[in-house]
Amino acid sequence: MSENPLRVGLVEERIPEPCTVVIFGASGDLTKRKLVPALYSLARERLVPPGLTVLGFARRPIGDDGFRAAMREGVEKFARRRPVAGDEALWASFAQGIFYHQGTFDDPESYRALAARLAEIDAARGVPGNRVFYLSTPPGDFPVILRNLGAAGLVVRGGAGTRPFTRIIVEKPFGTDLESARVLNRQVLEVADERQIYRIDHYLGKETVQNLMAFRFANAIFEPLWNNRFVDHVQITGAEAIGIEGRGDYFESAGILRDMVQNHLMQIVSLTAMETPVTMGANDLRDEKVKVVKALRVMDDAALERDVVRGQYTAGSVGGKALGGYRNEPKVAPDSKTETYVALKFWIDSWRWAGVPFYLRSAKAMPKKVTEVALVFKEAPLRLFGAAAAAVGSRANVLAIRIQPDEGISLNFGSKLPGPTTAIHPVNMEFRYGTSFGTEPPEAYERLLLDCMLGDASLFTRGDEVEASWTWISKIHQRWRAAGTDVARYEAGTWGPAEAEALLLRDGRSWRRP
Ligand SMILES: NC(=O)c1ccc[n+]([C@@H]2O[C@H](COP(=O)([O-])OP(=O)(O)OC[C@H]3O[C@@H](n4cnc5c(N)ncnc54)[C@H](OP(=O)(O)O)[C@@H]3O)[C@@H](O)[C@H]2O)c1
Repeated sequence: MSENPLRVGLVEERIPEPCTVVIFGASGDLTKRKLVPALYSLARERLVPPGLTVLGFARRPIGDDGFRAAMREGVEKFARRRPVAGDEALWASFAQGIFYHQGTFDDPESYRALAARLAEIDAARGVPGNRVFYLSTPPGDFPVILRNLGAAGLVVRGGAGTRPFTRIIVEKPFGTDLESARVLNRQVLEVADERQIYRIDHYLGKETVQNLMAFRFANAIFEPLWNNRFVDHVQITGAEAIGIEGRGDYFESAGILRDMVQNHLMQIVSLTAMETPVTMGANDLRDEKVKVVKALRVMDDAALERDVVRGQYTAGSVGGKALGGYRNEPKVAPDSKTETYVALKFWIDSWRWAGVPFYLRSAKAMPKKVTEVALVFKEAPLRLFGAAAAAVGSRANVLAIRIQPDEGISLNFGSKLPGPTTAIHPVNMEFRYGTSFGTEPPEAYERLLLDCMLGDASLFTRGDEVEASWTWISKIHQRWRAAGTDVARYEAGTWGPAEAEALLLRDGRSWRRP
């Protein structure tokens, strides 16, 4: 039997060419916890070429051996596919491709030395000059690194077809408001083309987030219902069951709107609400996502007052463990107005979603960690089952897509209760990743690093998309600053302030209790 050419094509396509991944900030937490473990898991799955090389760049003088030892520790602790007995040969060959370059971000000489080191390593390992520069550093360092990379001639301009290729991955946050995002976009484009820039949002690397697209566009039965004719409203929840865990200095300047909503939850909004892309290629897909963000109705003062709730947790208990109040965290102002909770009601002014409210909430110190999107459908046009159905709580159908944890999809509908009765009872039809596929999904960073090495930017955020979402989010921040009002309070371990409940109650709806 002849081989399926499409399958052969896919397999060939998914193995990147040999390249060197240069990580700036390589002695940091993200490199050890996520990046190198992800590269190692890819190597174990044989999804990267044997010539894959990692060059860490940071300040402390640890040398190649010190860096390798630290990475081994990270892989042992955090990789999805950990080294086990019998795997030593693989670790040994992976570790041979790990190097360390000591330098400081603002010193041009460090980059000249980096260029020389790269040339030497490329020659030794047979890498044809392909490079991925990963900016895993505090965001304030992005501009100086970009400038110095450009000045040292380390960036070869050109898109996916250019050889040797240079690609730049920029960690989050990409800006803290519209103005800073615009400035950063300009700084990036001074050095490289948009096609070379991979702005990371690790949510897009999650299988369940990608499955939102598969669910919608690989099946014919859901899409006809996915609009204002059938959907009553949409609820999006991004809840964490932890506080800020000592990161007061960061969180005070961020707040949950910047930390979660502008990036992760906006991605979920756009994948949920977008039109069918012409192809799944990076530009077609991102064109459709941007249209959603641009169609978000800008809130006027009245809407901001009425439809946005911000809250902050006070002392309470989460999962049986006591949690102190936000204002008692180290490096948090005793009168801080930073929001650890936000709830929004908003509209997408598109043909598909006209008249359908979107409700979104995101918070720390919730009773449960959960990220989900739920489409709540309109009720049946006629109540044929009357009082008996209402008595047992017949409800609107809900399609809930669980992003994390317990990744899966559930459809809630009414079923007749057994017996001589017309009563209707809500039941669930469930799909769960864990049970259906019996295999653990890859880590988000695995998929994203692999895609970047392959030159596929579909799951990365484009410059115009980032600016469009900051345009909308910055308006809310401006309003908060101008109004100077205090935050609502909620006890840690509860589902948020009463004002957020009222936001839905006033529309005759209520938040889901996932
Ligand atoms: N940690 C996470 O789970 C996570 C998750 C999502 C996004 N991020 C983002 O990822 C980025 C990195 O996070 P991280 O937690 O890994 O940061 P980190 O632990 O603070 O590491 C910072 C790194 O930058 C290096 N560095 C700082 N200043 C330098 C300088 N002037 N010259 C040379 N090296 C310098 C440090 O090297 P030395 O210590 O050797 O000086 C260290 O390797 C941040 O943008 C963060 O927002 C992190």
